[in-house]
Amino acid sequence: MKFSAALLVASLAAAVDAFSVQHATTRVGTEMYARQPIMAGNWKMNPSTEADALNLSTGFVALLNEMEDTCAVDESEGCTEVVLFPPFPFISKVRDVVGPHGISVGSQQIYYEDKGAFTGSVAASMVKSVGCEYVLCGHSERRTMFGDSDVNINAKVRKTLEFGMKPILCVGETKDEFDLGITKEVCAMQVSKDLAGVAKEQMKDVVIACKLQLCCGIYCFYPVIIIIETTLAVLDEPVWAIGTGLVCGNNEANEIHKFIRTVLEKMYDKEVAESTRIQYGGSVTPDSVDGLMAMSDIDGCLVGGASLFADKFARIVNFKKQ
Ligand code: PGA
Repeated sequence: MKFSAALLVASLAAAVDAFSVQHATTRVGTEMYARQPIMAGNWKMNPSTEADALNLSTGFVALLNEMEDTCAVDESEGCTEVVLFPPFPFISKVRDVVGPHGISVGSQQIYYEDKGAFTGSVAASMVKSVGCEYVLCGHSERRTMFGDSDVNINAKVRKTLEFGMKPILCVGETKDEFDLGITKEVCAMQVSKDLAGVAKEQMKDVVIACKLQLCCGIYCFYPVIIIIETTLAVLDEPVWAIGTGLVCGNNEANEIHKFIRTVLEKMYDKEVAESTRIQYGGSVTPDSVDGLMAMSDIDGCLVGGASLFADKFARIVNFKKQ
């Protein structure tokens, strides 16, 4: 295990070198490469009933309408775009509630085939027809629990674009990869494989979500992590697959985002690198959002747990601009 890991690190390090280019950063909102903030609420397999989903949506919309800086109430340049990802059965009704307030809905998943004998799967045309503007592709839970490979994720990204929707491509390390210190290498590989065949002109519709569960938190919170890991081991829960409440340090997260821009620059050009929106994902809360959003290369957040609370997600969407 350790031997093959070392080999993996060595081969991936070469890939990173290939991607590393000198790179100047651009703040959100600079004239040349303005990046509109985007906040996404990924409800995952929650809540349990349609009634609860509608309560959550109406509660969120009511709170949002009291706030100032979201596109729901403010169409000015620089307003924050908001997208909700409800489970499939709730998409239409949630869209009816939030759509009139300028909030988009998206699909947590699609299959890359157009139609046919694929029991349990949902096609791009289907989610498009119920109003989805976005599709999550390559979410860590799909990669680790449902075996989504980079080849499949790439097919889903391209299918999403083919149907005029926008993929949010999720990249990030597993717990094991994090422990090996190969976060950058993994992100570089996923971005390059998952965007293969996506043309430069299509990149304006692509958002990247960088989901870094524990990141630098391991150093600051090492004793806490040991306790959590021990407890979860007893409970037989995968530590990496849940929201731990530990957020990556802002600067460390920003560094990974900047690194992803170097990958994009190598694959495309500086314009794509600087104009592609990159969200941070992983245990974002009302307490952590302002610091994250103050970073030069973090353009929004992919929010799981906190998006299930109308007040928490409304506060996240209405982060304090600095
Ligand atoms: P989390 O989930 O905010 O609960 O960590 C984010 C996500 O997985 O989309």
